[in-house]
Amino acid sequence: MKERKAIWLPDAASTYAGDVDALFYFILVTSFVLFVGVMTAMVFFAWRFRRRSSDDRPAPVKENKIVEAAWILVPAALVAIVFVWGFRVFIQMNVAPPNAMEITVRAQKWSWLFEYPSGARSTELQLPVSRPVRLKMSSADVIHSFFVPAFRTKQDVVPGRYTYAWFEATRQDTFPLMCTEYCGQQHSTMLSSVIVQSQDDFEAWLQESLMAADAPPAERGALLYVQQGCQGCHSLDGTGVIGPSFQGLAGSERVFTDGTSALADDNYLREAITLPALKIVEGYDALMPGVYASLDPAEIDALIAFIKEQ
Ligand code: CUA
Repeated sequence: MKERKAIWLPDAASTYAGDVDALFYFILVTSFVLFVGVMTAMVFFAWRFRRRSSDDRPAPVKENKIVEAAWILVPAALVAIVFVWGFRVFIQMNVAPPNAMEITVRAQKWSWLFEYPSGARSTELQLPVSRPVRLKMSSADVIHSFFVPAFRTKQDVVPGRYTYAWFEATRQDTFPLMCTEYCGQQHSTMLSSVIVQSQDDFEAWLQESLMAADAPPAERGALLYVQQGCQGCHSLDGTGVIGPSFQGLAGSERVFTDGTSALADDNYLREAITLPALKIVEGYDALMPGVYASLDPAEIDALIAFIKEQ
């Protein structure tokens, strides 16, 4: 495929990106031509019809049917062109081909999780090249927005419902993926990558990540720590910004906002993961979402095993 060089937009890398760009540049160039035309006429008329002496009065203005028709019909035609063109591209961007591979996307403060039909999971969006992919997206907390500039794909991810996006990557590369809806303190760090590779490399990656799910509990916990977005709030180095650090947490004495305290044993850790609002550690706010109650028991065990190693 011929490489498209854009002036301001990143190089297009999806099948419909070229159509989006064409419409964008049409609107941009049209606006530019109209702007220059209007400004030039304005400056010219101000100069041409300037007041030349104190008794210089403008002559009565008579209507000009052709000029009036032109300023109604030309903008109307432009708006109609942009509407029809935009609608066609909109439909193209919103109706996924029936053979698209479905990937589930979960957004949460402040990370992305991608789940594949085979059960593989990743915090980066791994894709095979030249294959349509449909995203089924949901949010665990607030509104996020899925944005891949190179694909010209942008779609809000809303709690309480599914939203969808689809695209077909046209070349193998790594592209930035970001959240483009302000979603709280760490919004600007809600970044990931889209990694587009050959069908064979993609299959190999799928196999590899499925094998990783069979690893020993603590290793699996380390994976979940990243995939489930724990790392967004819980550090491993003792610093506690949004939530307490996992360093030295297991086995320590926890003091809560209501003045009570408890030893961080297995049962405490399980409760803190599944019912985070029950006891809030002193110095922190009740910010952790309740979604982790839906982790399966083996996953909770793996996370506890991981926390105990820190
Ligand atoms: Cu998620 Cu901004």
